[in-house]
Amino acid sequence: MMLRKMTESDLPQVLELQRELAFQDWNEKQFLSEIKASYACCVVYESEGRIQGYAIFHLMGPDSELLSIATREAEQRRGIGSHLLHAGLDQLTASDDQCFLEVRVGNSKARAFYEKHGFKLYNVRKKYYSDGEDAALYKYSKS
Ligand SMILES: CC(C)(COP(=O)(O)OP(=O)(O)OC[C@H]1O[C@@H](n2cnc3c(N)ncnc32)[C@H](O)[C@@H]1OP(=O)(O)O)[C@@H](O)C(=O)NCCC(=O)NCCS
Repeated sequence: MMLRKMTESDLPQVLELQRELAFQDWNEKQFLSEIKASYACCVVYESEGRIQGYAIFHLMGPDSELLSIATREAEQRRGIGSHLLHAGLDQLTASDDQCFLEVRVGNSKARAFYEKHGFKLYNVRKKYYSDGEDAALYKYSKS
C-alpha cells in the first residue's frame, strides 16, 4: 500500500475509477495538464498494483484548492480518502493557509468526509452545476 505522485501511466486506471464513481467527467487531457502543472499536487493511493484512489489539489500559497478526490467504491470508509486528503493539507505551511473546495449539496458522503476533516461550510452557490444542483463551498484553515 502506498501513497505516491500520480504519473501519466496511472491515467487509464484513474479514468476507470472516475467512470466507476460517475461523480466527475474529466478527460485524459485534463488529468495530464494537472500532472504537468507546477502548482498541482496529484496523488494516488495504490495497493497491490491497483489504484484505489486519487486526489488533485492546487497548492497556491494562502489559497489552495481541492479539485478532486475519490476512493474506489469497494474500498471506501477504510481511511484511503483521509490519506489522500492529508497529502495535500499537510503541505499547507503558513498558519493562515486555507484550502477551498466545492461539492454538490446532495453529496452527503463527501460532505460528511470534509466536515470530519475540519472543512467549514461558508457559502452555497445556487444552481452551480449544469443539472441545476447547488454547490456547497467549504474551506479548511490550517490555523
Ligand atoms: C468522499 C470520499 C473520497 C471519501 O473517501 P473514503 O476513502 O471513504 O474516506 P475515509 O475512509 O478516509 O473517511 C471516511 C469518512 O468519510 C465519511 N463517509 C464516507 N462514507 C460515508 C457514508 N457512506 N456515509 C456517511 N459518511 C461517509 C465519514 O465522515 C467517514 O468517517 P467515519 O467512517 O468515521 O464515519 C469517497 O466517499 C468517494 O470517493 N466518493 C465519491 C467521489 C466523490 O464524491 N468525491 C468528492 C467530490 S469531488
